Amino acid sequence: MFDRLSIRQKIGWGYGLVIGVVLVGITSAFLTETYYKKPLQTQLKIDQEKAKVLDGLSQSLLQLKHNQDNLVQSLSNSQDIEKIEQGVSALRSNIFVMNNQLQQLQNIPETTDNQIQQDYQGLQDLTQRYKERLNNYAPQFEKLIQTTEKPNLNPKILQSVQKSLINLNRSTGITQVYPLYSETTQLENRFRKRAETAIEYYEQIEVFGHRIIIITLVISGGLATILAIGIGGMIAIPLDTMIKVAEQVSEESDFALQAPVTSSDEIGVLTQSLNHLILRVAEYTEELQKAKIVAEAANRSKSVFLANMSHELRTPLNAIIGYSEMLHEESEDLGYTGFLPDLERIQTAGKHLRDMISDILDISKIEAGHVTLYLENFPVDKLIEDVITTATPLAEKNNNVLKVKAKPNIGTMYADMPKVRQILLNLLSNASKFTEKGTIYLIVERTQEKPPIPEDDELMYGLIGNSSQYLVFRVRDTGIGMTDEQLQHIFKPFIQADASTTKRFGGTGLGLAISQRLCQILGGVITVESKMDKGSIFSVWLPVHVKG
Ligand SMILES: Nc1ncnc2c1ncn2[C@@H]1O[C@H](COP(=O)(O)OP(=O)(O)OP(=O)(O)O)[C@@H](O)[C@H]1O
Ligand SMILES: [Mg+2]
Repeated sequence: MFDRLSIRQKIGWGYGLVIGVVLVGITSAFLTETYYKKPLQTQLKIDQEKAKVLDGLSQSLLQLKHNQDNLVQSLSNSQDIEKIEQGVSALRSNIFVMNNQLQQLQNIPETTDNQIQQDYQGLQDLTQRYKERLNNYAPQFEKLIQTTEKPNLNPKILQSVQKSLINLNRSTGITQVYPLYSETTQLENRFRKRAETAIEYYEQIEVFGHRIIIITLVISGGLATILAIGIGGMIAIPLDTMIKVAEQVSEESDFALQAPVTSSDEIGVLTQSLNHLILRVAEYTEELQKAKIVAEAANRSKSVFLANMSHELRTPLNAIIGYSEMLHEESEDLGYTGFLPDLERIQTAGKHLRDMISDILDISKIEAGHVTLYLENFPVDKLIEDVITTATPLAEKNNNVLKVKAKPNIGTMYADMPKVRQILLNLLSNASKFTEKGTIYLIVERTQEKPPIPEDDELMYGLIGNSSQYLVFRVRDTGIGMTDEQLQHIFKPFIQADASTTKRFGGTGLGLAISQRLCQILGGVITVESKMDKGSIFSVWLPVHVKG
C-alpha cells in the first residue's frame, strides 16, 4: 500500500504524521493539565481563604482578651474617661470583626472528599461555638457598658462596672480563649497544610504536562528524522542504482542492463523510463551498426571502384598524351604547323584530366585506408628546393613571385617525402592559382611548440602524433583570400570556396582534402588563416620524426 503512494504523497503523509503527533501531544498535555488543575485551583483558593480567615480569627481572639484586660485596667481609674472610651470602642470593633470573620467561615461549599468534609464539619462546630459565646457576651457587655456612657461618673460606679465586667468575662467564658485559640490554629494549620499540598500537586501536574510536551517533541523529532532518512533513502538508493546502470551502459555499451523497479512512485516510473530508454538506445544502436556496416561496405566498394576506374582510365589517357606528344614532334619535323595548336590542346586537356584522375585515385585510396607510408630520412632544404623548382612555373604563370624563408640549417626530417611534397605542391599550386601579380612565400621553421588545435577537439588530438618537435611549412599569398564562411568547407572533398571557382580557376576541389588527410596520416595538421581580398596563410605542422 505504502509502495503504491507517490513520493509527494509519502512526504505529505510523513509530515502529517509528525504534525499529528505534535498536535495530539500538546492537546493531551493541555487537557490533562486543565482536567486536574481546575478543581485543584478552586479547592486551593477555598483552603487558602479559610486558613487566612482562621488566622485572622485567632488573632482577633487574642486581641479580644487583650482589649478586655485593658478595659478592666482603665475602669479602675475614673480620671481617664478617654481611655475607657477607647477600650470600649476597641472591644466593640473587635466583636464586629469577629462576627464578620465568623460570617465568612460559615460559607462552606459542597464537597465529596471525606477529609475535607471532616474539616468543614470541624469549622462549622468551631464557628458555632464562637457564635454562641459572642452572642452570649456581646449583649451583656453592651448593657454593662451603657452605664459608663452616662454623665457624672464616679469611681464607685466605675468600680462596680469593672467588677461586673470581670464577672461577665468569667461567666461567658469568652476570656477562656485558649481552648478556642488552639483549636482555631489547629484547624487553620490543617487548611494551610492542604493548600500547600495542593500547590505541590499543582506543580507536579505542571511538570507532568511539560514532560508530555517534551516527550511529544522528542517522538516527533525522532519520527521526522526517521522519515527524512527513510524518504531520502527511498529516493537516493534507486537513483544511485540508476546512475550506476546508466554509467555502466554508457561505458560498456551493455544494453542488456536494466535498473530494478522497486516501487510504483515517481522513482519507479523514472526507472522504467530509463530501462525503456536503454532498450530504445539498444535498438537504435543495432540499426545504426547495421547501417554503418552497409555504408562502410558501400564506401569501400565505391573507393575500390574509383581506384580501379582511375587506374583503368589513366592507362589509355597516358597513351593519348604520349601519342599526342609524338604527333606534335612529328608534325613539327614535317612542318605541319597547322596541326600544332590542336595537338597542344589535346596534350593540356589530357594532362589536366590525368591530374584530376590522380587526385581522385589519391582520395579514394585515403578513404579506403589503402595509404602506405614509405618513411625515410631526408634533408628539409632538399625538399624545399625540389618543391620550389616545380612550383615556380605555376607561380609565374600568374605573374607572381615565389620566395622562400627558411633557416639555413633547417636539418632533416623522417617522413614520407613524396607525400610531404604533394601537400606543399597542392598549397603552392592553390596560392599560385588564386593570386595574381602577387608574392607567394614558403616559410619553413622548426619549433617545439604544439600545433594550434582547439583543446576540445578530441578527434584532432587523437589523430596527431605527440611529437616534441615540429616542422611548420607556411604558404602565404597575397591573393583573393576567403571569408570565414568559406573557410568552414574548403577541406571537404569536391568543395570549392564558391561556385564560380571552377569556372574561373578550374580544379575539382580535392587538393586541400587530400593534403589535410595526408597530413593527419603523417601525424600532423593543417591550419588556415585568410582574409577576403588580402590573402591566405596555410600552415602545415608535421612531426620531425613521423611514426610509422
Ligand atoms: N590560397 C588560396 N586562396 C584563396 N582560396 C583558396 C586558396 N586555397 C584554396 N582556396 C579555396 O579552397 C578551395 C578548395 O581548394 P582545393 O585545393 O581543395 O581545390 P581546387 O584548388 O579548387 O581544386 P584542385 O586542387 O582539386 O585542383 C578552392 O577552390 C578555393 O576556393
Ligand atoms: Mg588545389
